[in-house]
Amino acid sequence: MKKIVFMDFEELKKRNQLIAEEIKKRNNFVIVNHHDADGLCSGAIIAKALERENKKFNQITAKQLYSDTIREIKNSGENYIFVDFGSGQLNLLEEMLEKNYFVIDHHQPVKSDYLFHSNPFLFGFDGGKEVSGAGMTYFLAKELNEKNKDLSALAIVGAVGDMQDYEGELTGLNRKILADAEEMKLIKKEKDLRLYGKISRPLTQFLSFSSNPIFPGLAANDKACVDFILNSGIELKEKNAWKTYSDLTKEEKKTFTSNLIVYSIENGFSEWKAQNIIGETYTLLKENPKSPLRDAKEFATLLNSCGRHGEAHIGLKVCMGDRINAYQNAMELLLEHKRQLRAGIEWVHEQGLTEEKAFYFFDAEENIKEEIVGIIAGMLYGSNLVSQKKPIIAFARQKDGLIKVSARATDDLIRKGLNLGKILRETCMELGSDAEGGGHKIAAGCRINLWQQNSFKEKLNKKIADSIKI
Ligand code: C5P
Ligand code: C5P
Ligand code: ZN
Repeated sequence: MKKIVFMDFEELKKRNQLIAEEIKKRNNFVIVNHHDADGLCSGAIIAKALERENKKFNQITAKQLYSDTIREIKNSGENYIFVDFGSGQLNLLEEMLEKNYFVIDHHQPVKSDYLFHSNPFLFGFDGGKEVSGAGMTYFLAKELNEKNKDLSALAIVGAVGDMQDYEGELTGLNRKILADAEEMKLIKKEKDLRLYGKISRPLTQFLSFSSNPIFPGLAANDKACVDFILNSGIELKEKNAWKTYSDLTKEEKKTFTSNLIVYSIENGFSEWKAQNIIGETYTLLKENPKSPLRDAKEFATLLNSCGRHGEAHIGLKVCMGDRINAYQNAMELLLEHKRQLRAGIEWVHEQGLTEEKAFYFFDAEENIKEEIVGIIAGMLYGSNLVSQKKPIIAFARQKDGLIKVSARATDDLIRKGLNLGKILRETCMELGSDAEGGGHKIAAGCRINLWQQNSFKEKLNKKIADSIKI
């Protein structure tokens, strides 16, 4: 077990104490959270914490904190708490909201000495992989009230939703949160397969539907999947019901997993890609064993199914504990979300991507919703369309006609020095004021005007090529 040194955690704690004291003095809040899984977990954690302090609040979910978003929410309350975004927009917030706002975030921050701002980068931690927006909100919540330790499981769902386990397990400050969640008996960690649908998909579909990664020869080929399962000595059904991976015995899981790794390498996977199939998984012990909420990854996908499709209130209710109406609604949204992801991936397979000097590129126009084009871009690393050697840049059309840009990279590229968030922010600044962007080293986004696309791509090609030296 690696030893973790929480060098500057005391400083982060002090900042949170300062913010917590100030929050206790004020009332009538507006929580503004991001629309993805981490954003909803962040929003739910702070909502629960405010509820426990008997504070009044409204909640707003936004796709992104652009200047026009800030203008729209201005005057909707007395005090604003921005969670899972805001660190990249501190200058805009200062200009537009004066002093009645708090920012709890983990994106790469702009320079500012604003005190009601909590961000891991200010204290020597990497917000790209060591702690998510939900994790940062959780640390603040704990300063508000020790009772909020029961929100640690949501902070883990947020981190997994942001794929902070991309090196095989959660690291850094996320481990501290995990220790709280284990102590509270909310989460169990174990080394296991990291494919989607361990609980929700019958074994055959578990393999044939897998899109991250896609298994050549098994994808969309039920007959081959049945052969694979039977050859592993596993029955497809138990008492007339289709078995899922989670129904298998320990021994069966072991055989299934090792056979799948051998199969993947024999069918062209790099060692990296095959290894990536296994890693630490996080089980939510208080959830029904048959519910997707039982697995942190599936919980996060369910939240994306709500938040990224304009139904954040449903996801927030699920985070706050609703397992009846909101849960049923979310399960329906999950089906539609997964359908759209599959259709999007198929669309890219049919249309193909182009390989530019420094990145892979596709423009989905109106064929993929801008809210999920980033997820689809990231999932392509699980296909044979692209290698790990270049980032993926995807375009989709926003309703206002602007281009939404989503960018995704791999940990290999990050180690070479790539920082997509910084590159997109700089490119946007060079393009002009209404192009706003930023994010993490590994995943970032922005919006640009149609007429800017060629110069945008040209600048990006140059900046990315410079940083990864190609
Ligand atoms: O705004 P926020 O930090 O919550 O969003 C990060 C986004 O980047 C998430 O939607 C997450 O799924 C995505 N991501 C990705 N691939 C990674 C890391 C993050 O697609 N390797
Ligand atoms: O929208 P998408 O999932 O591609 O976003 C990837 C990451 O980039 C998220 O963390 C998001 O908050 C960030 N982003 C940003 N500014 C934008 C668009 C996205 O900081 N204009
Ligand atoms: Zn986040």
